[in-house]
Parts: sequence; structure tokens; C-alpha cells
Amino acid sequence: MTSLIRIQGAATAPANPQAMSGRAETTGKVGRDLLERAVALALRAPSVHNTQPWRWRVRRTEVELHADPTRHLVDTDPGRRDLLISCGAALHHLRVAVAGLGAAVDVEYLPDPENEQHLATVRLVDGRPDPSAAALFGQLERRHSDRRPYSAQAVPAGRLAALVSRAARHGVLALPVIDPTVLHRVNEVLRSAAREQRRVPGCLAELLLWTHRYANAHDGVPRGAVPTRTGLWDQPHLQRFPAGTLAPCRGSGTSGGTDGGTLLLLATPRDDAAARLAAGEALSAVLLAATRAGLATAPLSQAVELPSTRTRLCAALRMPDEPQILIRIGVPLPGAAPLAPTPRRPLASVLLRP
Ligand SMILES: Cc1cc2nc3c(=O)[nH]c(=O)nc-3n(C[C@H](O)[C@H](O)[C@H](O)COP(=O)(O)O)c2cc1C
Repeated sequence: MTSLIRIQGAATAPANPQAMSGRAETTGKVGRDLLERAVALALRAPSVHNTQPWRWRVRRTEVELHADPTRHLVDTDPGRRDLLISCGAALHHLRVAVAGLGAAVDVEYLPDPENEQHLATVRLVDGRPDPSAAALFGQLERRHSDRRPYSAQAVPAGRLAALVSRAARHGVLALPVIDPTVLHRVNEVLRSAAREQRRVPGCLAELLLWTHRYANAHDGVPRGAVPTRTGLWDQPHLQRFPAGTLAPCRGSGTSGGTDGGTLLLLATPRDDAAARLAAGEALSAVLLAATRAGLATAPLSQAVELPSTRTRLCAALRMPDEPQILIRIGVPLPGAAPLAPTPRRPLASVLLRP
């Protein structure tokens, strides 16, 4: 799909006090500096196993987003779904950063049919920044995947509805999995996905590679981002990574406190590269908006990675749309300590020559 989407018409003040409002100011070196700052912020996007499978080419008034095939988890993610969702999340982070810095952009998706790695070109345009993206600017460095237990308090219905409409703006269905029977079935698929992946040597190798990085690595999932083994360890969302060093919060853990977290499924009408990029953008929008609302979040992709478990997930959900990713969302426990940021590669490592 090649479409041109104009993101304009702002009503709120941009996050940058020296905000730019027109082409004249966002051309040349000024535009390039702004785009480099925005890309640096976009690097905070979530990605599967924190692989950060993206590269960027920054020019004077535009930036290209490319997938990095050397960071593709070929056995865990044979269809490139996670890779494209990760890049879509980075693209949305970029939009939020550009809007927060006070500029407006057009996004051209999949602009080169001869090059499947070229995912988008983002161009500075005249106009005011997108207010709904700018409103999320402050969350780019606050959002983290939180795999700890959540409070027993359910996510308020109004908050959930707001997240559903955030996803809808990207043409993505966000479906809260509330019905206990369906939830039970989805949890069973998550468990069996973890079991099946353990039997695929390539998945195990990729898991080990990305959870046992060398000291001071700029990527991968650090042990400090995964909870220690507790009485709640059999929870489906904890089946992915080996136990880590993240302390369980007060009021949870071994005593088996109830977790009121909700699963939100992101699904699209089609299942092609454009749909997966859109799912990534919706993922980013939901995660940042949830963070803004004081909620804890963590993406969950195991159930959609292997074709066999994805088919079972479709059957469990009994819906016509294409499942892309699940998100666990909840109210943090009162004693929850702030999470440490996970590492990111430096800007220079992810820039392509202009
Ligand atoms: C496409 C995608 C799939 C992911 N799948 C999982 C998952 O199955 N389980 C999990 O705990 N985290 C998952 N994550 C979260 C990443 O591990 C996390 O984003 C990464 O380690 C960086 O940490 P941060 O989100 O705290 O910045 C996923 C993220 C993305 C974008």
C-alpha cells in the first residue's frame, strides 16, 4: 500500500517553546536537526526482544525508516510480523516526537515496491503539529514494559474506551478480552505458544541471544526488566523470558494477590505489511496513552508468532479480523517502584548515510 497521510491542524501549543510552524523554518539545517532529535526520541520505541530492528536516513526535510534485516528474529518471527510492528511503533514514536518538537509531517508508507525494507518516508510540511500526537510527547521516555503483577483494581472502563479509540485512529481494532471463557482460552494459547517455542531450537537460540547480552550492550532484554520467580510465575505473560532480577511489588507476588490486568488484542482487517505497520503505530499510541493515564503496560506477542498458535488464537477469539499483538494493561500496584529504562543503541549506530 502506498498512501499519503497528512497530519495537521493542531490546536494545542507544541512541547517545544521554539516551535516551528512553517516550511520556511523547517527546511535546511534546522529541519535536519529537528528530525535527528525526533529520531533520537523515537529510539525509545518498544521492539520484540529489544532488537531495535530499524535504521533511519535523515535528510534536510525528510526521514526514511528502514527495517534492519540483520535484526530479524527469523525463527521466533518467521513472518516478520513482530519486526514490522516494532518498526510501526518506532514510526509512531517519531510522529509524536516531531509533533512535540513543533512540526507537521506527511507520512508515505511503503514508498518503494522494489525495496521491502523501506517502510516509510516522513516529510516535514507546512502547518501546525498534530495535537493528539503532541499530547503524548512527555511519555516517550516514561513508558516501559512492566511485566510485574498489577493491582486487583480493574482498568476503568472509560480509560479502556479511550485506548480503543486511540487504536481506531490507525484503522486498528483494539478488543478488550473481558469474557472469562474467552480469556481462559486466550491464556491457554499463550501457555501453549511458550511450550511450542521451547521445542523450536531456533527460537531458544534467539531467546538466549537476546536475554544474555554482553555487559553494557545497547540492546536485548536485561534481567532487571523481568520479575524474579514468585508464586505468580505460572501466569501466561511470564512464560516468555527466564526469571530475572526485578523485585515483585509489595502486596503481590508469593502470596498470590489477584491481578486485575486486562488483555487488549490489536487486530486489523487485512494481514499485510501495511496492516502490521498500522498495528505497530496503534501499539505505540495505546502504550503511550496508557502511560499518560498512569497505567502499566506490556506487549505480548508469543501467541501470534508461530502459525499454529496464531490459528488457535483466531479460533479462541472467534472474530474475522487478523490478530496482530496482545497488550497487557493494568493499574500498577501501590508499592510499584519506577522501572529502569532498557538500553538503546546510540543514534549514530542506526543512521544510514544520507
Ligand atoms: C512486536 C513486539 C513484541 C513483543 N513481545 C513481547 C512479549 O511477548 N513478552 C514481553 O514480555 N514483552 C514483549 N515485548 C516488549 C519488549 O520486550 C520491550 O519493548 C523491549 O524489551 C524494550 O523494553 P521497553 O518496552 O521497556 O522499552 C514486545 C514488544 C514488541 C514491539
